[in-house]
Amino acid sequence: MKTESTYMQWAKMRPKVKYDLALSGILNLPFAELDAKIEDLDLNGDNSYGYRPLVDALAAHCEVEPESVVTISGGTSMANHLAMAAALEHGDEVLIEKPTYDPLLAVAEYLGANIKRFPRSFENGFRVDVDELAKQITPRTRLIVLTNLHNPSSTLVDKETLKRIGEMARSVGARVLVDEVYDEGLRIERPALWLDSGRAGFCAAHAKASRYFRRCRTAAFRTAQRRRPG
Ligand SMILES: Cc1ncc(COP(=O)(O)O)c(C=O)c1O
Repeated sequence: MKTESTYMQWAKMRPKVKYDLALSGILNLPFAELDAKIEDLDLNGDNSYGYRPLVDALAAHCEVEPESVVTISGGTSMANHLAMAAALEHGDEVLIEKPTYDPLLAVAEYLGANIKRFPRSFENGFRVDVDELAKQITPRTRLIVLTNLHNPSSTLVDKETLKRIGEMARSVGARVLVDEVYDEGLRIERPALWLDSGRAGFCAAHAKASRYFRRCRTAAFRTAQRRRPG
């Protein structure tokens, strides 16, 4: 079973160069330069299903109910993994945009999904062609995956298009995973910075799906613990 992303391995391990045009361009922010005290980042307390003040703050930020937010350590990468693992069974059909962020494909492959691609072409300004997507949806489709802002093009998918994709998915009982890791780039006035040591990911989903995500999260961590050597 394939469990790796060859592209990410290359992206992380390639030799360092002075002027790197292949990076996302997000600068590192050492904790010392953050105008904060350690208590501001302290997440100690009841954390069985997410540290409540963090869940509440994320819910307010995303304008959803706290029941809809599932926090997860390991950044957006792990949040994507959780959402896909919760939505897909081995052999399920998943529609993933092309081009996309390579690890999304790797996770779907790892889960044994049947991957189909829908185009976001250069000629079409990297937009999602909803009519084209509609032709590829089948009663077997369980998940539609896209990035917004789009990686690699940074194209924004507008709300109306997202709504139409959601309606099409609902009509066959599928779900939509929108990776919004670059969403903050649209909202904040100052440049986004990379706080590597404080990385946290989260999923915002329908409350019923969120309850299931929480159970999957626990199960995933249990499996990882059992596999840990010694
Ligand atoms: C679309 C997309 N999703 C997820 C990630 C990974 O995010 P994180 O570092 O929070 O795991 C990246 C990083 O490049 C990305 O471009």
